[in-house]
Amino acid sequence: MEWGITNRLAQLIQSDGRALFLPVDHGYFQGPTRKLEEPRKTIEPLMPYADALFVTRGVLRSSVDPNHTKPVILRVSGGTSMAGKDLANEGITTSIEEAIRLNASAVGISIFVGSDYEKESLLNLAKLVDEGERYGIPVMAVTAVGKELGKRDARYLALSCRIAAELGARVVKTYWCENFDSVVRGCPVPIVIAGGPQVDTELAVFEFVYDGMQKGAIGVNLGRNIWQNDFPVAMMKAIRAIVHQNATPIEAEKLFRSEKERESKKA
Ligand code: 5RP
Repeated sequence: MEWGITNRLAQLIQSDGRALFLPVDHGYFQGPTRKLEEPRKTIEPLMPYADALFVTRGVLRSSVDPNHTKPVILRVSGGTSMAGKDLANEGITTSIEEAIRLNASAVGISIFVGSDYEKESLLNLAKLVDEGERYGIPVMAVTAVGKELGKRDARYLALSCRIAAELGARVVKTYWCENFDSVVRGCPVPIVIAGGPQVDTELAVFEFVYDGMQKGAIGVNLGRNIWQNDFPVAMMKAIRAIVHQNATPIEAEKLFRSEKERESKKA
C-alpha cells in the first residue's frame, strides 16, 4: 500500500487493530432525526471517546470545531430522502478535492445491493475508489438496506460486503447478523459494525457488538444506539471498552451503569 493510504488508515484503525467510528451522518437523508437535531450538541461530548467521526461536509463545517484533530470519514454519497421515492437512488455528493480540502482521512459511500439502483450505486463506489486511490484516500463502503431492514441476514450481507471489497473499498461497514462469522470470512477487508435503529436494552447492544467483535469485526460505526440513548457518554465508554479492552457484555453493562450513575449525580 502507498504511504498516504497506509497513514490515513492508521489514523482510523488504532494500533491494537481496532476502531470505534462515531457516525453522525444520518441527517443527509433523515433530516433532524431524534437526538441529532443540533449536531454540535450531540457530537461534542462524544468526540473524546471516538477514534474517528463519520460526517457530511455540511455538519463538519457547521458543527465541528476545526481545531479538533480527530480523523474524519467524510460521507460523500446522498441525494435522496426519507420523503422521496427510493433511498437507493444515491449519487456522489462531494468531490475528492473537497475531501482533501477538509482534510478527510477517508470517504464513505453507500451501496444498495439488490435494489433497483444496485448498478448505479456499485459504479459510484468503483468511481470513488478510483478517485480516492489517486490521492491516497481510502474508501469506506456502507452496505445500506434502505427501508428494508428485513434484508439484514448473513447471506445478503456477505454478498454486499464481498462486492464492496471486490470493488476496492478499504473498509466495509455493515450490520451485525446471526452467523456474522460467515460475513467476515467472505470479506477480505476489515469490517465495522453499524447498529441501525435503537434496540430495546443496552445489554442487547453490548451483546451484538461483542459477538461481532468475537467473530472478526475490527470495530464499530455505531450511531443511534449511542447518541439516542439517554446517557450517550456512558454508552460510548461501554462500547469503547468492548472494542478496545475486550470487555464482555456484562462488564460493559456494569461500566454503563456506573457511568450513568456518575452522570446522573452531576446533573
Ligand atoms: C446512515 C449511516 C450510518 O453511518 C450507519 O447506519 C451507522 O449508524 P447507526 O448505528 O445509527 O445505524 O450510514 O446513513
